[in-house]
Amino acid sequence: MKGIILAGGAGTRLFPVTKVISKQILPLYDKPMIYYPLSALMLAGIREILLISTPRDIDLFKNLFSDGEWLGMRFEYAVQESPRGLADAFIVGRQFVGNGACALVLGDNVFYGRGFGAVLKKAASSVERYGGGMIFAYYVKDPSGFGVVEFDSAGRVLSIEEKPLVPKSRYIVPGLYFYDNAVLDIAKNVAVSVRGEIEITSVNNAYLEAGRLSVELLGRGMAWLDTGTHDGLLEAANFISTIQKRQGLYVACIEEIAYRNNWISVDQLLRLAAAHKTAYGDYLNFIAGEEAGDHFL
Ligand code: TTP
Repeated sequence: MKGIILAGGAGTRLFPVTKVISKQILPLYDKPMIYYPLSALMLAGIREILLISTPRDIDLFKNLFSDGEWLGMRFEYAVQESPRGLADAFIVGRQFVGNGACALVLGDNVFYGRGFGAVLKKAASSVERYGGGMIFAYYVKDPSGFGVVEFDSAGRVLSIEEKPLVPKSRYIVPGLYFYDNAVLDIAKNVAVSVRGEIEITSVNNAYLEAGRLSVELLGRGMAWLDTGTHDGLLEAANFISTIQKRQGLYVACIEEIAYRNNWISVDQLLRLAAAHKTAYGDYLNFIAGEEAGDHFL
């Protein structure tokens, strides 16, 4: 399975911080924000990534990840000329996706919680094996700014509505989606919404109407953090800092995930560690030196 990270947009809510730079490159505590959604794709076992951003910002991401070899991965890049909507990822990314299945993650979405790696691997293998689409539902206090999922009493999905005035539940769809190859044609044919965007909710509804959509609940033990506002960014940074200091284990350390996935060797990890004379480099050295079974992740 391949993966797309959509990291364009205007970042208007973070203005003026985003006046000259992409939101997704801003620090979330100790790493660029994009490391967090990238780590979700990596945990799903996805090694081939298309990073989509704006004409202004795409070079920043190229400088950050280059061809991905240093992570044992392959990165491609594409430009989205304007923020036409999330489903545009599959129009811009059509050639990259080719004939297979594809995951999409939004470049500002941060997930953290027990068992998330297993959830991701299951989603990827289920869509690869059986086709269809798989998305997630997450309970939030204020669902009105998101795609909202309505369930019946048996837990079946009745509807998904984009930013409804009167939400039918508090379960929203976070920015992580797994689809079979049909997504390419579905996205191409999505009508522009009243908001003027080609919505991922329209894609999800097409899968739902065809009886080909699975919606997995992410439990309350999962953190899905908001990074789109000044307060959200600060609170998410404090959350990451608290977890990392308590455990001594990093959230979304992409070099660590590449190493644990056996995509890079211990020597490659040590070389990456040597390039950072910082706590981050110390952490990579620690991971390289730990004994099997030191901790169970
Ligand atoms: P949004 O939160 O809708 O937009 P934004 O990030 O630009 O922020 P703001 O509302 O403050 O202007 O987008 C969610 C994510 O998707 C974010 O990472 C930007 C990205 N995105 C694109 O890359 N292209 C698009 O066409 C859209 C709509 C969003």
